[in-house]
Amino acid sequence: MRNNFFKAMLFSGLLLSGGLFAQQKATAIVNADQGKVIIDKHIYGHFAEHLGRCIYEGIWVGENSTIPNTNGYRNDVVAALKKINIPNLRWPGGCFADEYHWMDGIGPREKRAKMINTHWGGVVEDNSFGTHEFLNLCELLGTEPYICGNLGSGSVEEMSKWIEYMTFDGESPMANLRKQNGREKPWKVRLFGVGNENWGCGGNMTPEGYAENYRRYATYVRNYGENRVYKIAGGANVDDYRWTEVCMKNIPHHMMQGISLHNYTFTEGWTSKGDATGFNEEQYFKVLLNGNRMDELITRHTGIMDQYDPQKRISLVVDEWGAWYNVEKGTNPGFLYQQNTLRDAILAGSILNIFHKHADRVKIANIAQMVNVLQAIILTDKEKMILTPTYYVFDMYKVHHDATLLPMEVNTGEYGFGRRKLPNITSTASVDKNGAVHISLVNIDPKNDIEVSCDVRGAKVSKMTDGQIITGKVVDSHNTFDNPYEVQLENFKNAKFKNGTLTVKLPAKSLVTIELK
Ligand code: AHR
Repeated sequence: MRNNFFKAMLFSGLLLSGGLFAQQKATAIVNADQGKVIIDKHIYGHFAEHLGRCIYEGIWVGENSTIPNTNGYRNDVVAALKKINIPNLRWPGGCFADEYHWMDGIGPREKRAKMINTHWGGVVEDNSFGTHEFLNLCELLGTEPYICGNLGSGSVEEMSKWIEYMTFDGESPMANLRKQNGREKPWKVRLFGVGNENWGCGGNMTPEGYAENYRRYATYVRNYGENRVYKIAGGANVDDYRWTEVCMKNIPHHMMQGISLHNYTFTEGWTSKGDATGFNEEQYFKVLLNGNRMDELITRHTGIMDQYDPQKRISLVVDEWGAWYNVEKGTNPGFLYQQNTLRDAILAGSILNIFHKHADRVKIANIAQMVNVLQAIILTDKEKMILTPTYYVFDMYKVHHDATLLPMEVNTGEYGFGRRKLPNITSTASVDKNGAVHISLVNIDPKNDIEVSCDVRGAKVSKMTDGQIITGKVVDSHNTFDNPYEVQLENFKNAKFKNGTLTVKLPAKSLVTIELK
């Protein structure tokens, strides 16, 4: 799957009027009989925080809403989420998690305590969406809950009781309370984060202080019955390698199954995030360049993990990633509502390809966030809903869930500005349980098509059975409530498979996935 910077592309085409747009060529090899690592489906996880219109309006409208719903959950959103088989859903935050007191969100809704959502717009949180509403949503979606516990401002007792409430099957104060609140049988809760961003909004701790706290809190996150908790330590911010190192050193390995990493993509940086639409080509490129940093971050963090855990028992959990732009004009700055373009789909495909490359260590990831917040896959406006270009990437890439990663080498050209360049193609090849090979190619170049000639070696496949594409007129093409299908998943036929060679005419600014059987 590595792009080779040094074996250059061949330019075979010529000038189009007014510009030097050339037909480019690339070659690739897939060794279909040499796969070793499984792409864990959990890297396709999502994240829903009590932030802006993600939970309220985006998912939960309540039973009495005029918006069509099932037990309070929007039917349109639930149907869209079911279609892409989301494997896990992280909740209730984010920064909100370390201020959330779960007991405020159980029992009769009209009696639930109200609180201020200090991080996100200072709005009143009425706790009408709590533990039952979240876990029942997960059952409805057929997805695994990923709960993030409150280490920053909650007590050890509170965290301990939460896991007892959710998972204990028997007589106990918390299990009895759950039954009293209408749920007889416990839920299964495997994924549990012990705090969030504890270097910042989760308590401003040092890594040493966090590791010490982790040991105490995690001790009381018990395994009840057959429920086995996969405990995830709150990890580093971007390139804080010391945080990873101290946690790996100071936390006994039997006490954690994963450690997290958060990395968002901005156009320039935190103080200059750029706009979600209306950007120029250089800003387009900068987002992809910054997004590509995920590769270096994972390489360096996992390098540290390898020192302490060479057997790779502990996974790197990238439980917050995605593009973060300026909010849409006229919206609450604390609600983080942004549009989503073809650029974001290309970014998502490129980052998912990076996760695949590191599939031996990256086992869980969560794009931020699911509905109406940051790089959302779904946007809603009252009763209307649209799917974003990023949604279609998750739809297209579901063929890679739990498939075996295949070694793939791509010899291709570059795209960029000045001395800053990226390989113009990123890719993934995998083989599923039934022997179908899927090859995904992302052409990040906004102007040039690329003809890719790919040798597929060692596969028991004879024909191309499917092709899908996501592209648009321009890189900031996007869907709106008035024009909801400007960018979507479409059939792709511009490829052929003959004598073991797949030839794909990969359009500029596109993501393509081919199936061979
Ligand atoms: O996703 C938005 C916020 O970004 C989360 O609440 C926090 O964990 C991160 O800083």
